[in-house]
Formats: sequence, C-alpha cells, structure tokens
Amino acid sequence: MDIKVSTGDILVMEADAALIFVPERSAEPEQEAQPSFIDRLDQVLDGMLSDLLSAGDFSAKRGEVAVLYPRGVVKPQRLIMVGVGKMSDFSADVARRMAAIGAQKARSIRALNLVCMTVGTGRGGLSVTQSAQAIAEGVLLGLYQFTAFKSEAPKTPDPQSLTLVPYSAEELGEAQVGVQRGVAYAQGTMKARDLANTPPNVCNPVYLAEAAIQIAKAHGQSITVLERGQMEALKMGSLLAVARGSENPPRFIVMEHKPELAQAGKTVVLVGKGVTFDTGGYSIKTTDGMVGMKQDMSGAAAVLGAMHILGTLDVQAHVVGIIPAVENMINGGSYRPDDVVTASNGKTIEIISTDAEGRLILADALVYAHRYNPSAIVDIATLTGAIAMALGNTAAGLYYTGDDLRASLEQAAQNSDERLWAMPLYPEYSKVIESETADIRNSGGAGSRGGAGLGAAFLKHFVTVPKWGHVDMASVMLNSGDVPYATGKTASGYGARLLAEWVQVWQNQS
Ligand code: BES
Ligand code: ZN
Ligand code: ZN
Repeated sequence: MDIKVSTGDILVMEADAALIFVPERSAEPEQEAQPSFIDRLDQVLDGMLSDLLSAGDFSAKRGEVAVLYPRGVVKPQRLIMVGVGKMSDFSADVARRMAAIGAQKARSIRALNLVCMTVGTGRGGLSVTQSAQAIAEGVLLGLYQFTAFKSEAPKTPDPQSLTLVPYSAEELGEAQVGVQRGVAYAQGTMKARDLANTPPNVCNPVYLAEAAIQIAKAHGQSITVLERGQMEALKMGSLLAVARGSENPPRFIVMEHKPELAQAGKTVVLVGKGVTFDTGGYSIKTTDGMVGMKQDMSGAAAVLGAMHILGTLDVQAHVVGIIPAVENMINGGSYRPDDVVTASNGKTIEIISTDAEGRLILADALVYAHRYNPSAIVDIATLTGAIAMALGNTAAGLYYTGDDLRASLEQAAQNSDERLWAMPLYPEYSKVIESETADIRNSGGAGSRGGAGLGAAFLKHFVTVPKWGHVDMASVMLNSGDVPYATGKTASGYGARLLAEWVQVWQNQS
C-alpha cells in the first residue's frame, strides 16, 4: 500500500472511505477553544453522528466500528468510524490499534483508497510525527497476511492507498517524517514476520544468509557469511556441535551498518538466534512441542528487520548484526547429552540437553561480537519456554548488565510498544549450571527451576563487555491475539522495531 501525505480537508477529498477516529464522549465535555473535527463533521452531516451515538448503536468505545454512507454530503463515499475510547487513555499504541482496525474494516468492505487525519495531536498528546508514524505502522501491520504459500490470492484485495492529512498545513513536513519512519518500521517488522513464517524446508541457514545479503545490498551495508570451515578455524565448537546433525550446513552471518557520520566508540552489536528448525535433537521435543519450531529463528529475523529499518532511515550509528544460523536436527553424527564441547573462548560445556541449543550457538556469536569493541551488545532469542511461564505472552524478558543499558532498552520498548520486562540475574543461577565434568553445563537438568534465568546465566559466561542485554522473546514470538495490528496465530515480528529504536536511544544517550 502506498501512504501519502497531503494538506487539505479530508471531507472534500475523493476516496472510497475516510477513517474517522472518534473519541468516547466524556460525561462532562471539556470546554474546547475550537469545535473539534468530529463536531464539525457532525454538523456537516446534519447530526448523523450524534444520532448514531445517542441511539447507542456506536458508543466510540475503543475498537468499535461503524460505517456511515454520507451520500455525497462529503466526498469520501464511506466514513469508517473507529472508536478510540477515552481520550485520557490515548497513546501512540491506541492510534496504531485504531488504524489497524480501520484498515481491516476497509479491506472487508473493499474500500481501496483511504483518507484519514493525524489523530491524537491535540488532547491525545502526540506529536504530528508520532501520530503519522503510528497510523502508518498500524495500517501496514494490520493488513499483513502471510500468503506466500497459498495457491490462491486472498478473496478481498488490500486497500491500495492512504492519504494522511495533518490538521494544519504547517504540519506537513512532520507528518511526512512520521510516515517515512512508520513505513520503515512496519517493513522491518513484516520482513521479520515473513522470515519466521516461512517453512523450515525453505528457510534454512543458507536461505537466512541470502535474506541477509539482500537486506545488506539494498542499504549499502557490508556483509560476510562464514561457512563451516571458517567457523572451524575460529574454533566455534559450541555452535558447530549443534549444526552437526543437519544436512543443511550452518552459516555465520555478520552484517555491518556503518554510515559516515557514525559516532566513533559507540559501536553496538545485535545478535539474533537463528535456529531455522529446533527438533530438540536427541533430547527430542514432543510432537506438539515441535510444531512451530520453524520460528526458532525469530531473534535472527528481528535483527534482520532492525538492519532494514536502520538502513532505510539511514540512522547514523555503527551497528553490527550477527546471526549464528543452524538447524537442530538428528542423525548419526549429531551431538548428544553428556558430550563436552569447547566454545571459541576456550570454555568447555557439558551438554545436558541438546534442546538447550540456542545458548550454544549464541555463546560463539557473543564471543565473536567482542572483536568490534562495542559499547553494548544486545542479543535476542527464542531461548526458553520458561520465559512464557514467567511472563505469559505479553512481554519478552530482559536480562542485562548495566542500569543505563536497561533504561535505554526500556525506553525503546516504550517507544516501540514492544514490551520488555526486566528480570533478575541472581548469582545463584550460575551455581545451578556448574558442571562436575566441564566448566559449565548447558542446562540445570531435571527439576531445576527458573529456566529463563539459567539461560541468561549461561550466556553471561561469554560476555566480557560491561553492557550486555539478553532479550528472551520465546514468550512473544507468536501473536498473542490481543493486538489488532498483529493478527493470526503467526509470527509477531517482535524485536525489529524494538532494536531499531534502541540503537537510536542508545546513540543519543551520553
Ligand atoms: N527453542 C526453544 C525455546 C522455545 C520453546 C521457544 C517454546 C519458543 C517456544 C529452546 O531451544 C528450548 O528448547 N529450550 C528449552 C531449554 C531447556 C532444555 C533447558 C526449554 O525451554 O525447555
Ligand atoms: Zn531447543
Ligand atoms: Zn531453540
């Protein structure tokens, strides 16, 4: 869909539908200096909107939808009214949700060309840029469908265009910036969704590397893809152990976004878990537990989505994206429980579970990340089922060192509305993964609790920089069903917006 910005009055613009965001009426209407757009619309429509509200057919509660046919009184053929709820609860996320609901309604009634205004810039407290960005994201993400493997096109075509109109002509530039940002952020999220939704017989480590090459090329980023022999030379024994059981060879992807004006000394590294399918290995998963494990590369997808956003917006920061990509399969050469493997920093690891493979590939990637002398490293991974036990499906868990890093990640989570919840990294967790045989073991073994913290404690063995964040996103890799711009039991695309936003917050933090 094409999103444009224009000045003018949406009521005199040709369109199949106008999306009208209607706030719930408060019991005591506030005295406003000027009549609101909604009041003016009601007047133009000779009270049609008041009738709708007073009849109780539509009360403008959040997410409620009604369609009006103004019969030529205003130019748009239909008015898709979307309830915003109480204006006191307004936020960018509300705008994003309402835009998604409006766009979905437009699709269902086959309205192809849409107009709407930058909602929430008055009482809603958003800047014009924030509003335009949220609407662009909501519309694009709300219309997302994964159809690559369907033999027939969807029955209802997507809306083709949206013209976004700010309240005053002076706000045009700001609105344009917002749309540009929103489109980039939505595209990054959709790329992540596409990759995670692609079946594992297609999306294997080599495919992931190809996808990375395409993104890097499109944005003038440099990219190096290491093959098995090069990983052997780097002594990545932990990653290579996981890769051994698959016919699909592993890849180690390193991308670099390095614009000219990037601040020296502020390099950051993003590391994403790229297990293109996780059978569990010889610690094999159950039938039900294995379904959906094509998405065990969602961390990698988030990093790739973020690299796309950073490239599109030409963010002035030196960012390295690292993706260890493997498939966790079983054959006669697979690694097994009781094996001891050696990571590239020389640490020996006793394998307790071949299903705790994510931390094994991240170990070698984290060691590699240090060669860039980064100001911070953030990894993102579908690491443990335990994080969903702790947090449910509404937030990812954050483990971290450095309070400033934590604050910057929480700020980024707030800006992007991709939730993060800080978790403790107690020293006792390290005790649980001590090994009798090797330096550490890759799992606490039977009966151990706090699995997400144990995973984080394991990763910490491979980190020596003072600022490190670990985002366990296993809890949010699938849409929860609670968010209108993330529908269907498919990949959420979580993390692309969060990471891109974090890079900017971290750069601007002194
Ligand atoms: N990929 C899984 C984690 C996962 C589970 C992601 C469910 C998304 C949904 C990971 O590799 C895994 O199997 N973790 C184990 C760790 C355990 C063996 C220490 C787990 O969570 O049970
Ligand atoms: Zn696993
Ligand atoms: Zn896994």
